Amino acid sequence: MQLKQLQAFHAVAKSQSFSAAAALTDLSQPTLSRLIKQLEEEIGAELIDRYHRPLQLTAAGEFFYEKSLALLAELDTITAMTQRMAHPPKTLRIGFVPSVLYGLLPNIIGLLKRQLPDLEVQLKDISSYQQLEALKSGDIDVGFGRFAQQDTWVQQILLRHERYVVALPVTHPLAGVNDLRLPQLADNRLILYHQSHLNSTALGQETEPLLNLFDRYGVLPFATTTVSDLQVALGLVAAGEGITLVPDSLKTLRSEQIRYQTLLHEDATSPIYLNTLAEIAHPAYPTFLETIYQVYENKGITYRRK
Ligand code: BEZ
Repeated sequence: MQLKQLQAFHAVAKSQSFSAAAALTDLSQPTLSRLIKQLEEEIGAELIDRYHRPLQLTAAGEFFYEKSLALLAELDTITAMTQRMAHPPKTLRIGFVPSVLYGLLPNIIGLLKRQLPDLEVQLKDISSYQQLEALKSGDIDVGFGRFAQQDTWVQQILLRHERYVVALPVTHPLAGVNDLRLPQLADNRLILYHQSHLNSTALGQETEPLLNLFDRYGVLPFATTTVSDLQVALGLVAAGEGITLVPDSLKTLRSEQIRYQTLLHEDATSPIYLNTLAEIAHPAYPTFLETIYQVYENKGITYRRK
């Protein structure tokens, strides 16, 4: 079986037309037709039902299309990575979730630029689960996220666990109370903002992290509201619509309308992961990792060293 045959079949299957597939692939319609015929003969099954308009796949064609999609995507990834290995990028492109931007990211970039003054850095706001695809396609070289994810191409280093704090409206009865326990928060509307919740297929059926944490303490919030991001969640807290938990480094946001209180539970934390490709490292990566550790040392932050 040849790659060209597979590509011809996918182009026709996607566009449901030989003429559209010809425009897509730069191959003539007779060539596409010949390649697909050869493929069908090799497999010993008809893949395309040519009697319907638009063209349809046969049941065998549907099966073959679904199963071979991943194969072509894998080949794209391998090609992109090989190109990167041959021509290492000069710029370091860093993907990050917004919650790390309010914390140490500016310090880390500042120190990195002092260590490698000629290095160009680009920052890209991108969710934890999108970072995996962005690493594989070469859109980013490293990423900071907050979810553990499984992908054979990607290496994740757990940098540290950051404590959650409770964000409460200034007028809330618990606004002045330190060292809160989760059961004390049960009567509140909990604002959820983690993207895992909005895209459960990308991360498996993982439960929303805040609900998961409450559940570990046997607490079911009396109501929840789900929003698209953390800034919106804090906006709702400021407006008195509910409470939420955010990583400690965010506790300066909207400080006129929100009080942040510590939680007593030591395991009420949000992890910070550094995501990279498992087999290809950007030339600046070793210095970058050392810079992160250096910032932790300078600030006296407890972290995990790889
Ligand atoms: C941190 O807060 O640990 C952190 C933030 C941004 C990048 C890396 C680490």
